[in-house]
Amino acid sequence: MTVCEYRAGLEGVPATQSSISFVDGQKGILEYRGIPIQELAEKSTFLETAYLLIWNELPNAEDLGTFETEIRYHRRLKYRIRDMMKCFPESGHPMDALQACAAALGLFYSRRALDDPAYIRAAVVRLLAKVPTMVAAFQLMRKGNDPVQPRDDLGYAANFLYMLNEQEPDPLAAHIFDVCLTLHAEHTINASTFSAMVTASTLTDPYAVIASAVGTLAGPLHGGAAEEVILMLEEIGSVENVRPYLEHCMEHKTKIMGFGHRVYKVKDPRAIILQQLAEQLFDKFGQDKYYDIAVEMEHVVAEKLGHRGIYPNVDFYSGLVYRKLGIPTDLFTPVFAISRTAGWLAHWKEQLAENRIFRPTQIYTGLHSAPYVPIEQR
Ligand code: ACO
Repeated sequence: MTVCEYRAGLEGVPATQSSISFVDGQKGILEYRGIPIQELAEKSTFLETAYLLIWNELPNAEDLGTFETEIRYHRRLKYRIRDMMKCFPESGHPMDALQACAAALGLFYSRRALDDPAYIRAAVVRLLAKVPTMVAAFQLMRKGNDPVQPRDDLGYAANFLYMLNEQEPDPLAAHIFDVCLTLHAEHTINASTFSAMVTASTLTDPYAVIASAVGTLAGPLHGGAAEEVILMLEEIGSVENVRPYLEHCMEHKTKIMGFGHRVYKVKDPRAIILQQLAEQLFDKFGQDKYYDIAVEMEHVVAEKLGHRGIYPNVDFYSGLVYRKLGIPTDLFTPVFAISRTAGWLAHWKEQLAENRIFRPTQIYTGLHSAPYVPIEQR
């Protein structure tokens, strides 16, 4: 066995072999099952992309239709899950609510038959179907309202926006949201996916796998950054303040949210598409003053930090798109989770196919044979 050098954060250390997605951070390439993200954003839909990621093939029309119908059928939540959500504090973060609800599904669907393709399919359908309903239900309940039931005549993205905003979305808004879901669906072995894989490797149930991934995505260095970007844009407040704000960050070595990536050393290809989507939305539904601030930030950061490979990541423009779609700031990360559930499930299934429990080693830095000092002598 080769003894490897310790790398903090496992940077550059392969943790698995996977055929789900590919990133070239120098060239700005992202592919799902070999298909460039730009192609999928333009031509596919989120559910078709989810199918591709999970079953490693583009479905034919009949298979896609069946998959979509199954998902529609399973969108509703059990009333006991809704009752459980009623007990959550309205001040709680929606990611915590989602994590608790995802874990609770394991109580209601406790059968565990990880070698049965029908079980895998049912779990995939149930999670893809119910995660959006949970996010929307918590949002309405924390405002003191009853959750809105899913509508069978609406597609996946349109139904989520309907359940959230209590009105049917404009078709362009629904389409743009669907593209956002596609863009966030998968991204190799990042922190939350790794967390999902480690949990999956113990052969626990898929609801625990997703709950674990949701908890990991919640942190500000990962999925939480989109939320932080909007708070930062609000703090900056005007285009004139951009340069002094950024210079202050650089002087004090404060991370600029929405910039930098462990893998990408150029502008994230998803950020390029998200910026275009933001512009389409602003053209149709009115401008957003924060967009001008964001564009100026990108310009100044490129000038000052571009030589170090620090450019906008996926979270930089996504928040501006979500705001325009009526999604509250603290739901950005749960919305990310709705989408990434597809990628997590793909990795769950891949992990099960050739499972070996994760059990890395460590480099011990503590004492040996240390004396036990009696309490009265400490
Ligand atoms: N602002 C300012 N400086 C930065 C930034 C940033 N956003 N990102 C990296 N740097 C600098 C660091 O200060 C560091 O400088 P140093 O070498 O002088 O200490 C150097 O670049 C390397 O930074 P690391 O944090 O070590 O780079 P890493 O690859 O680990 O970081 C990360 C990636 C965590 C995403 C980082 O860029 C960051 O914190 N960005 C802001 C948060 C963010 O937007 N997260 C979302 C990422 S995308 C996603 O998870 C979906």
